[in-house]
Amino acid sequence: MRPLIAGNWKMHGSLRESVRLAEGVREGVPGVDLLVCPTFPHLHPVAVALLGSRVAVGAQDCHAAAKGAHTGDVSAAMVRDTGATHVILGHSERRQNHGETDAAVLAKTEAALAAGLVPVLCVGETEAERLAGRAEAVVSAQLEGSIPYGFVTSGGIVAYEPVWAIGTGRTPTEAEVAAIHGTMRHALVERFGPAARTTRLLYGGSVKPGNAAGLFALEDVDGALVGGASLVPEDFLAIARAVPE
Ligand code: PGA
Repeated sequence: MRPLIAGNWKMHGSLRESVRLAEGVREGVPGVDLLVCPTFPHLHPVAVALLGSRVAVGAQDCHAAAKGAHTGDVSAAMVRDTGATHVILGHSERRQNHGETDAAVLAKTEAALAAGLVPVLCVGETEAERLAGRAEAVVSAQLEGSIPYGFVTSGGIVAYEPVWAIGTGRTPTEAEVAAIHGTMRHALVERFGPAARTTRLLYGGSVKPGNAAGLFALEDVDGALVGGASLVPEDFLAIARAVPE
């Protein structure tokens, strides 16, 4: 399957900076799919800047409802309307800062699929959970609780992001990443059948040009979800070039 390198730009940059960042990655990397996820107000201008390129655009969240009295929220259809094709859901910063439960993430994922968006569903354990030996159990429970029927056949993507590795410069060992990705693949195939063998499983959390090649060489690591390093076009493209040919 074609690997995917996704950039999560979080709440960074002016409109001008986001468009320049998009222009900086628009050339892409042969053989690799790229996705960039700017903040809501930058979605449309970034999608316009990337028209005609192979770089896709995604949001970082959406609301579960199709419409209604939800001040400040953005529906999946509104995201789709900007030219975006993907949406990150269940990121740990949403789970932690906005109290998003697996049930809430499930509802959002269903809304995304109904609107024709490809969800990039994030799961991952906290440091306390890893130290307690519960990483695989936590990730399995999150997958079970937040992935709806239809996810696999619609090309849904899963990102394993250990909470303690996000923005910290720390990463699990390659063996630890391989173990979780193997567990996730097994769980998805058990539940959805052989189609889940082609579900892309991304690793996220302090991915940099220097550690990308080692991660991408692992079985069942089909790309990365990149935060900090995605804000520098050269680093983002260098990570994409680290994908084995
Ligand atoms: P990071 O963020 O690459 O800065 O660790 C990853 C993420 O939160 O998706």
